[in-house]
Amino acid sequence: MLSSMLTGVSQTPSLSIAAGILAVSLSTIYLLQFQWSCRTSKVPLAQERVLILGATSGVGRTLAHKYASRGAFVCVVGRRTAMLDEVVQECEALSSQGGFKDRILGIRGDCSDVQDMLTLRDAVQDAWSGLDTLILTAGVSALQPLMSVAGIDMSAPGPRSQANAEGIQHAVKAANAAVNGNFIGPYVVAITFIPFLTSTSPSPSIMLLSSVAAVIPAPTRTLYASTKSASLLLYQALSIEHPSIAFTFILPGTIEGDFRASAVDNPPGAPAPKIHEADPNKHGLKREAVADRCMRAIDKAEKMIFTPGYFRAGHISYWVWPTFIEWRARVKYNFKH
Ligand SMILES: NC(=O)c1ccc[n+]([C@@H]2O[C@H](COP(=O)([O-])OP(=O)(O)OC[C@H]3O[C@@H](n4cnc5c(N)ncnc54)[C@H](OP(=O)(O)O)[C@@H]3O)[C@@H](O)[C@H]2O)c1
Repeated sequence: MLSSMLTGVSQTPSLSIAAGILAVSLSTIYLLQFQWSCRTSKVPLAQERVLILGATSGVGRTLAHKYASRGAFVCVVGRRTAMLDEVVQECEALSSQGGFKDRILGIRGDCSDVQDMLTLRDAVQDAWSGLDTLILTAGVSALQPLMSVAGIDMSAPGPRSQANAEGIQHAVKAANAAVNGNFIGPYVVAITFIPFLTSTSPSPSIMLLSSVAAVIPAPTRTLYASTKSASLLLYQALSIEHPSIAFTFILPGTIEGDFRASAVDNPPGAPAPKIHEADPNKHGLKREAVADRCMRAIDKAEKMIFTPGYFRAGHISYWVWPTFIEWRARVKYNFKH
């Protein structure tokens, strides 16, 4: 009976493929659960040493609150000193409400500054003798159609003006700022902390807060998407070079908050960034929800998370039916040409 069933399967290629897919899926689920139980047994939640780079506002700040509440050792990092002091106080209050003491550090630092990152690593070494979880939320936004960054209005009627030296220089300056914030920062952080993590944690983990824009192109996001994409690819390749570290990549859509105020690509003479999409504070994902998803993914050593989950289908659809996704992106960013 069994042999006739097996013979039947081998004679039906689609059944064999389905059985293969099922076997691979079940083994993946088993391996993920195994990794998860290993991490919590090796790094108990109230012993976890967590470094959050980019914690003075937004998702990084919310993550700091949540890790402090569950008793972790938390080091918050950012460039704005006054906001850093506030986060430290908030985290200390949450930590002590849970009965924990002396678990919060605040260090001012710029991720792209080599000396700042070395000073930070020394401080973490002195305080905790090592690190288990590195969370990188730092990043800068860029929001304009590229030609407008160079001072050219493509929607103006009449003969088209050409890019001049001043406009191109302005666009180069914007690109340098975006590369520095979204690629050089993560690059310096990786080199500074990967050997430190692997030599001091029984179960090291790195989470990169990327963006769905890193894998699905969008108008008005040329600089932002290409620089976020560069850091995502950098960390994906690093995850192959360092299999002992659990790398997690989070790719969210628009999130509520003031991220757009950090835009590095205002057109020449523009006083403030022009926002093309619907108000992020009305339509964006809630910071709390994104932070919860980040923590669950780190705890379970999940690799690549789209949030909302249907963006994964958008990513696949771009390769199957690019014109449809391009049309959707034009609608979302209110981009007409
Ligand atoms: N908001 C969205 O719609 C959205 C959507 C998808 C993905 N994301 C990604 O999510 C991440 C966080 O976004 P958010 O909404 O939480 O923005 P946010 O409120 O602006 O937070 C960014 C944080 O990064 C810090 N930071 C920026 N550059 C830094 C640097 N060079 N060194 C150290 N810290 C730096 C900022 O602090 P200081 O200025 O004090 O240094 C701030 O604490 C970003 O990487 C972004 O690309 C955002």
